Amino acid sequence: MRDPKIRIEELTSPQDLRQCVEMQRATWGWKDEDLLPLRTLLLLNKIGGLVLGALDRNELVIGFINAFPGFREGEVYLHSQMLAVRQDFRRRGIGKALKLAQREEAIRRGFQRIEWTFDPFEIHNAHFNLEGLGVICRRYVADAYGPSTSSLHGRLPTDRLVAEWHLASQRVCSRVESGVHRAENRLPPTSSVVHLPADIADIRVRDPDRAAAIQRDFKRQVTDLFGKGYCATGFESASPPGEVSYHLVPFQTQVLAS
Ligand SMILES: CC(C)(COP(=O)(O)OP(=O)(O)OC[C@H]1O[C@@H](n2cnc3c(N)ncnc32)[C@H](O)[C@@H]1OP(=O)(O)O)[C@@H](O)C(=O)NCCC(=O)NCCS
Repeated sequence: MRDPKIRIEELTSPQDLRQCVEMQRATWGWKDEDLLPLRTLLLLNKIGGLVLGALDRNELVIGFINAFPGFREGEVYLHSQMLAVRQDFRRRGIGKALKLAQREEAIRRGFQRIEWTFDPFEIHNAHFNLEGLGVICRRYVADAYGPSTSSLHGRLPTDRLVAEWHLASQRVCSRVESGVHRAENRLPPTSSVVHLPADIADIRVRDPDRAAAIQRDFKRQVTDLFGKGYCATGFESASPPGEVSYHLVPFQTQVLAS
C-alpha cells in the first residue's frame, strides 16, 4: 500500500473501536450476538492483545485487524481474529498492509507466532495466507463457531483451517519481503494435493447440498493427511482449469526454512 493519505496505527479510543464494531456488521452481516463488542475491543488493548486500524485523513477507520494473546505448548502467541477492509477500499493493498503491520508489532513485542483460522472455501484468502504471507496449516477445526449468522458462510458447518504464521522464519521473511511464490515450482515428490472446484463460493450459494458433500470430502482428505504429519504449505489457483488446490508436504522444520 503506497497511499500517503492512509495510515496504520493502534486503535485505542472508543470512537475508533466503535467503528470496528460497525464494520463487523457491514462486512459479515452478523447479528448482534456474533459481534465482538466495544468493551472487549477496549479490554484487548489492556491485556496484551492488539487492535490495528487503517485510517484515512478524515479519521474514518477503513480497515482493522485484531488479535488476542494466547498460550499453547508452553509458548505465548497472538491469535488473530478478524481482518476487514471496507468494500470500497478493497484490492488496494490495505488488508496486506494491516497484516504486515500486525507482524511487525508482534515481533517488536517478542512474539514468535501469530495464528488465525480461515474458511478453506474462501479461496482468495487461502491464496493470500499460504502464498502471500507464508503460513502453514496443520490443524482442521470442524464447525469452529457453530452455525453462523453471516450470509458469507452459507448454511455449512463453520469448518476452518488453522494458519500458523511463524513470524521470523525464512519461509515468512522471503514471502513478505519478495512477494508471492509460485506453488508449482516448489512441490517435492512427497507432496499431496487436495482439489476444490474453483467456483466453490457459487456452489455454496446455488447448491448447499453439493457444497456440504464437497466440504465433507475436503475435511476427510485434509484431516487424514494432517494425521499422517502433513502440513498445507501452498495454494494454486487454476491448475487444472476450473479447480484450485491445496498443496501439502510432510512437516519437518525445513518447511519453515523454505
Ligand atoms: C480479505 C480482505 C481483508 C482483503 O483486504 P484487501 O485490502 O482487499 O486486501 P489486499 O488488497 O491487501 O490484498 C491482499 C491479498 O488478498 C487477495 N485477495 C483479496 N481479495 C481478492 C479478490 N477479490 N480477488 C483476488 N485476490 C484477492 C490477493 O491475493 C491479495 O494478495 P496480493 O496483493 O499478494 O495479490 C477484504 O477482502 C475483506 O474485508 N473481506 C471480507 C472479510 C474477510 O473475509 N476477512 C478475512 C477473514 S477474517
